[in-house]
Amino acid sequence: MNKQKPVLLITGGAGFIGSNFIRYMHETYPDYHLLNLDKLTYAGNTSNLIGLEASPTYTLIEGDIADEHLVHSLFDEHDIHGVIHFAAESHVDRSIEDSKQFVETNVLGTLVLLQAAKQDWEKKGVLQERRFHQISTDEVYGSLGETGEFSEDTPYDPRNPYSASKAGANLMVRSFGHTYNMNVVISSSSNNYGPRQHTEKLIPTIVSKALKNEQIPIYGDGKNVRDWLYVDDHCRALDLIFHQAPPFSTYNIGGGNEIRNIDIAKEICSILDDIKPELLKETKLASFQDLITHTNDRLGHDRRYAVDDSKLRKELGWEPKEALSTGLRKTVQWYVNQWESVASP
Ligand SMILES: NC(=O)c1ccc[n+]([C@@H]2O[C@H](COP(=O)([O-])OP(=O)(O)OC[C@H]3O[C@@H](n4cnc5c(N)ncnc54)[C@H](O)[C@@H]3O)[C@@H](O)[C@H]2O)c1
Repeated sequence: MNKQKPVLLITGGAGFIGSNFIRYMHETYPDYHLLNLDKLTYAGNTSNLIGLEASPTYTLIEGDIADEHLVHSLFDEHDIHGVIHFAAESHVDRSIEDSKQFVETNVLGTLVLLQAAKQDWEKKGVLQERRFHQISTDEVYGSLGETGEFSEDTPYDPRNPYSASKAGANLMVRSFGHTYNMNVVISSSSNNYGPRQHTEKLIPTIVSKALKNEQIPIYGDGKNVRDWLYVDDHCRALDLIFHQAPPFSTYNIGGGNEIRNIDIAKEICSILDDIKPELLKETKLASFQDLITHTNDRLGHDRRYAVDDSKLRKELGWEPKEALSTGLRKTVQWYVNQWESVASP
C-alpha cells in the first residue's frame, strides 16, 4: 500500500451503493487510498469491484465491522483519515424474518467503528478534523400520508426492524458527536437504483422475473410510494457532504422521483418490451406487464417516503443529474446485459 496517500476506510464497499461509491472515488480522487472493509455476506459481491483488484490505491479487507480486534488493528496499521460507513444488513424483508443480525451489524458494528475511530483520532489529536460519515436512509423517519416530506428535523419514527437498527446506529453516531465532540455527519437518502444491486431488491427482481417469464410479485395494492435516487447522483452527494459539510450536520438526499411501486413495475416492463421484443414474442405475452401479480402485503409496510433535500441543494449546490426515465432505462439495460452474460458465458 502507498503509505503517502491519505487512507479512507469505506465499509460495505462490496455491496450496491458502496461499490458504486468506491468506483466513483477511485476515479475522482486518485490521491486517496481506499480501504474497503466488507464481510462479504450474501449481499457483498467482489465482482462489483472487478477491475480494481490490481489498483495500487484500493485494498479489500474481508472482515466484520463488529470485530473489535480487527477494526482496532486497521486503525493501528493505517493512518485512516476518514470513515464512510455503508456496511449494513439492508433488506427490510429479512429484518422482518429475523432482526438479530440487523442489531449486531447496524448498531453494534457502528459502535465498534466509532470507538476505534475515536480512540485513534484522539490519540493523534485529530478528533475534530477527521470525519466519520454515517450512511443512512429516509426510512428512519417513518411513513408519510399522501402529502408532506421528511426534513432533517423530522423526529425519527422507524417502523420496521431494519429502519429501527439504522435509527439506533444514527443515534449512536450523534451521541459521539455530542459527547466527544467527534466530527460526525449523517446523510439519509431515499431509495437508490442503478447497477450492481442485489437481485432481492425491487428493480432487479422485476427485471429478472420478467426475463425468466415468471410472475412479478408486487406487495399489496402496489400503491406504496417511493422516491428513487440514481446511485451516481447519491455518490456525488456523498462526496460533497464528506468533503464540505460542517461537522455534526445531517443532510437528506432525494431523487425528486416519487412513484408508486405498481407504476415503476409497469415502467420497467415497458422498457423490457422495447429492448427485448424477441423474448416477449417467445413468451406470447402482449407485454411483460402481464406477469405482474399482487401478493400479500409486507408486514408493517410503510406507505410513502419523500424527503426534502433543499438543505443539500442550497448549502452544497447539489442536484440530481439523472431523470428517472433515462436512469431506469440504463439500469434495466445493465441487468439485461448481466443476465445475458450469465445465460451465455
Ligand atoms: N439501497 C438503498 O436504497 C439505500 C437507501 C438509503 C440508505 N441505504 C444505506 O446505504 C448502505 C448501503 O446499502 P446497500 O443497498 O448498498 O446495501 P447492500 O446490502 O447492497 O450492501 C451491504 C454491504 O455491507 C456488507 N456487510 C454487511 N454486514 C457487514 C458486516 N457486519 N461487516 C462488514 N461488512 C458487512 C455486505 O457484505 C455488503 O457488501 C446501508 O447502510 C443502507 O442502510 C441504502
